[in-house]
Amino acid sequence: MSYKFLLTRRDGPVERLTLNRPDVRNAFNAEMIAELCAWAADFHREPRGARAVVLAGAGKAFCAGADAKWLATVAAHSEEENVRDSTITSQMFRDLDRLPVPLIGRIHGAAIGGGSGLAAVCDIVVAADDAVFGFTEVKLGVIPSVISPFVLAKIGLSAARELFLIGARFPAARAYKMELVHAVVPAAELDETVNRYVAEIVSGAPEAIAVAKSLIRDVSNLEIGEATTALTARTLASRRASAEGQEGLRAFLEKRKPSWVK
Ligand code: COA
Repeated sequence: MSYKFLLTRRDGPVERLTLNRPDVRNAFNAEMIAELCAWAADFHREPRGARAVVLAGAGKAFCAGADAKWLATVAAHSEEENVRDSTITSQMFRDLDRLPVPLIGRIHGAAIGGGSGLAAVCDIVVAADDAVFGFTEVKLGVIPSVISPFVLAKIGLSAARELFLIGARFPAARAYKMELVHAVVPAAELDETVNRYVAEIVSGAPEAIAVAKSLIRDVSNLEIGEATTALTARTLASRRASAEGQEGLRAFLEKRKPSWVK
């Protein structure tokens, strides 16, 4: 599939997905959102053996959030059209959040508004030490609404109450403290750090990683008693009996590499 506002490239076990509207710092409009939804649907259907996806931005910044010009035009739309558009934006974040492989965010320059929202749907986020973050929507009279479930799950209520309400920008060091970001490095070391994460991921069992990713989401939505009986015990039972689980355990005991390590 070819896209106007996305660059996609397969690089060994990694699918590289790059937002590509550098003139507006990769701000997303309806067309780019539709492309991200189409890309995610395609990836969900057929990951073609990819073990991780790296999400990055072309040009000077990762992503400046929603395109303010596009948002300004929606006042002319009917309420129904507006709800439909917002639903599609919400689905874009959900579909990226649920990718069946780890999603690694490579953040340089700025991740503002929905750009910080994209960081929140990544499993692992590596940021340049001079990158700027922010939930700045209230400064423009809008709110960080469709990103809120993903952001709250990452930064918690207290940080959200401060940052959603003041709309101030904050540095990568603060994003790291509240665990929106997992590693902060000089910009020149971003790719090397991302590649180290990829190397860890490809040494893990692919099905186990996919199940672990969905388990985190499912467990976080359950009360503890429900989680232990209905979900976690069953999941463990099926993983250890699986061909992959058996291969990993046997490889360890036989002091050899498991089949998924090339
Ligand atoms: N929507 C539409 N256009 C945007 C945009 C956005 N969210 N963010 C940046 N742009 C445009 C600018 O208007 C500018 O266009 P111009 O060249 O026609 O003047 C161009 O992108 C470059 O922006 P600029 O601010 O000069 O780039 P920078 O590298 O100095 O700063 C940012 C990058 C991301 C820090 C800065 O552009 C910014 O803060 N953008 C607003 C982010 C925001 O508030 N997002 C929330 C939206 S709800």
